[in-house]
Amino acid sequence: MLKPPLLGFAFAALAALPSAAQAPLAAEGCLGCHGPRGGGQGGIAALAGRDADELAAIMRAFRANERPGTIMGRIARGYTDAEIAAVAAHFAALR
Ligand code: HEC
Repeated sequence: MLKPPLLGFAFAALAALPSAAQAPLAAEGCLGCHGPRGGGQGGIAALAGRDADELAAIMRAFRANERPGTIMGRIARGYTDAEIAAVAAHFAALR
């Protein structure tokens, strides 16, 4: 049996893992097309490491139908400003 202090540490470590390893929920929907780490795939642009303000501005432009696209206009409409900001910050921080 683990002693209580060790057990507590194990739970704390477990609790900390998912947040460090997983994308925010709003970003999960981008990975199927833009690659598992947002690195781009199949001719679809990479998102990782790009400027967060630029990514957010592109998403808002897709959402407002101000930027031409085949699919992104429809996808962007499902995201609030806060979600767009979170997603943009997430991909900007990836390398
Ligand atoms: C169904 C596939 C698909 C999904 C899901 C998807 N994208 Fe896209 N994305 C595309 C395609 C295709 C383009 C090229 C523009 C177009 O045709 O709509 C694109 C273009 C973009 C661009 C512009 C890239 C550039 O440099 O021109 C950004 C930024 C972007 N997507 C962000 C996202 C984000 C953020 C998400 C998740 C919220 C997401 N995409 C989800 C397929 C997808």
